[in-house]
Amino acid sequence: MPDSVEHAAYLTEQDDATADEFAELIDGLNQPLKTISPKYFYDERGSQLFERITELPEYYLTRTELSIMDRHIGEMASLIGPTASLIEFGSGSSQKIRILLAHLVDLAAYVPVDISREHLVASADALAADYPDIEVLPVAADFTQPFELPGPAVMPVRNIVYFPGSTIGNFSPEAALDLLEVMHHEAGTGGGLLIGIDLRKDRGTLERAYNDAGGVTAEFNLNVLTHLNRAFGADFDRRAFRHLAEYNDRDGRIEMYLVSEKDQTVSIGNAKVAIAAGERILTEHSHKYDLQDFGAMTARVGFRPVRHWTDADEMFAVCFFERD
Ligand code: AVJ
Repeated sequence: MPDSVEHAAYLTEQDDATADEFAELIDGLNQPLKTISPKYFYDERGSQLFERITELPEYYLTRTELSIMDRHIGEMASLIGPTASLIEFGSGSSQKIRILLAHLVDLAAYVPVDISREHLVASADALAADYPDIEVLPVAADFTQPFELPGPAVMPVRNIVYFPGSTIGNFSPEAALDLLEVMHHEAGTGGGLLIGIDLRKDRGTLERAYNDAGGVTAEFNLNVLTHLNRAFGADFDRRAFRHLAEYNDRDGRIEMYLVSEKDQTVSIGNAKVAIAAGERILTEHSHKYDLQDFGAMTARVGFRPVRHWTDADEMFAVCFFERD
């Protein structure tokens, strides 16, 4: 069983802000619609806040996906087959991955890939301790770019990419297509993709899920500013912004913003950004799909649908694809 010192061998230096990330951040804040990448939600505190979101009564996504996994794990395991290498894009939900680790047969390796090193190492250590027969090989990387897979001790029969949580919804349709291409690449010959997607539904249900009464989602959104202050030496004042989430019906997505409460100027390193009272900074799009559109997208990169599972109310879907 690998310990955290051995894990370090697979980690890359991608947690600290780089010159490229600084340029990307400033560029986003100089757009007509100011934008901050949702990847900045997930520092250590943000990952904890997200765990709390998944337990909120309004946030149906996680519990619905979990119940789909629970109900259909037998069929999923038999479609995946024995001695696969399971590559998780983002090491978010320990609960979902545990269902797979407990039921997949003779897993060759579990490879969580995540940009947040602290979260990655903590959850990888916990899983390695609980599943001593499974080799856990974490990779700290930005999974939107192709990355090198570690070599497990046991030769895998096939790679299965796992992308739960409807995280694909954070990507624009074009970026989602690029990401599916990376997944297609990492899955390799004969590989598979098991992916969770949030389905289109009525505005009320969607908007409640992103505007919880307890304010946890607001805190999650505002924490981006605390993260940027630390990672980039910025001086955002959280009290000068408020959380806003609304459903854009035409584009089928929740849009999350930080709205400036006043005219203000923020310093980020040696850059200055002026923000007007009432101006919005876009922090997240959460796209909702229907099964047909999503199938068409995955087909474009070379995945073919094998099977999908949904809940009785068709709120959420878990889909399995394969490639040649
Ligand atoms: C982790 C991207 C699936 O879009 O529902 C939760 C993130 N944002 N509440 C989502 C999120 C606000 C979440 N994903």
